Amino acid sequence: MIESLKNLGVLSEEKIRLAKTIEELESIRVEFLGKKGELTKILKDMGKLPGDEKPVIGKLGNEIREKINSFLNENREIIKNEIMQKKLDLEKIDVTIPGKEIEIGKKHIISKMIDEVSEIFIGMGFSIMEGPEIETVRNNFDYLNAPKDHPSRDMTDTFYITDDLLLRTQTSPVQIRTMEAAVKANKLPLKILAPGRCFRNDSPDATHSPMFHQIELLVVGKGITFTEFKGTMETFVKKLFGEDTKTKFRPHNFPFTEPSAEIDVSCFKCGGEGCSVCKGEGWIEILGAGMVHPNVLRNCGIDPDEYTGFAAGMGVERLGMLKYGIDDIRLMFENDVRFLDQF
Ligand code: DAH
Repeated sequence: MIESLKNLGVLSEEKIRLAKTIEELESIRVEFLGKKGELTKILKDMGKLPGDEKPVIGKLGNEIREKINSFLNENREIIKNEIMQKKLDLEKIDVTIPGKEIEIGKKHIISKMIDEVSEIFIGMGFSIMEGPEIETVRNNFDYLNAPKDHPSRDMTDTFYITDDLLLRTQTSPVQIRTMEAAVKANKLPLKILAPGRCFRNDSPDATHSPMFHQIELLVVGKGITFTEFKGTMETFVKKLFGEDTKTKFRPHNFPFTEPSAEIDVSCFKCGGEGCSVCKGEGWIEILGAGMVHPNVLRNCGIDPDEYTGFAAGMGVERLGMLKYGIDDIRLMFENDVRFLDQF
């Protein structure tokens, strides 16, 4: 019996040494020390032994049990440490490797221009309106007083969806929507700014894009005169291009304004001397504007004898191109971050 106990000790030690996982160790423990384990079996048979052998075998049995147990524990720790070490090796980070730079996005130049212009007008008490990109012929042309034979109505200029629906060619239809809503809600006067996308049947080149952005302005109230119009525009121009910028109102024709003007600003690059930005003119055209035509007011249910107003529309891409000296509008839509990152 002493012999088989000793053998058991040697055998279990051998097995424990070879075990590679915690699970293997556990099954070895069960095999030797479990209820039906080898050592347990031998010790159970102790009853059959003569009296004087019992304490000897009992002592040896306990010693071997303890030895197996402590050897199991020892090896369990070793395996655990190995597992941990492997994990650590896998997750090891080298803090000396230079970090990956996280690229933080930024606003597109068009959004930036819209924000910049909006801020200026919000500061003057305007609120922002939006209109849909798919518009009615009524809002885009008819109610804006465009003659039936106006060239801009032609299919060669405008993308039609049906006879009555089109991709808006300008943000001016937001004027109609705003005025009609204001009349309905009895909420005149109004002072709004409407940025958004417009579409024209143009083939793309350095200065044209079939999709572009405009910002529309509209003020309607009692006693609004050309003076308010001029003062507002001059304030805007100075805020956008600098205090020294001069403004020139050049007579023009738009169906929805009377009188109409194109507004030029003194070249912010050369100050009016003449340079490549202003093409030697000293002046740069930045927007179309005018006093709201009485017909337009009437179309929207506003009495032109009681109310007057002014409106303006500017091209966002054009403003951005002027401001940043960009010579090709297509760059703005190619989404090349090397270009966009500059602004
Ligand atoms: N809608 C005009 C265009 O696309 C720009 C414009 C001119 C808007 C005069 C206005 C305005 O509100 O009064 O060319």
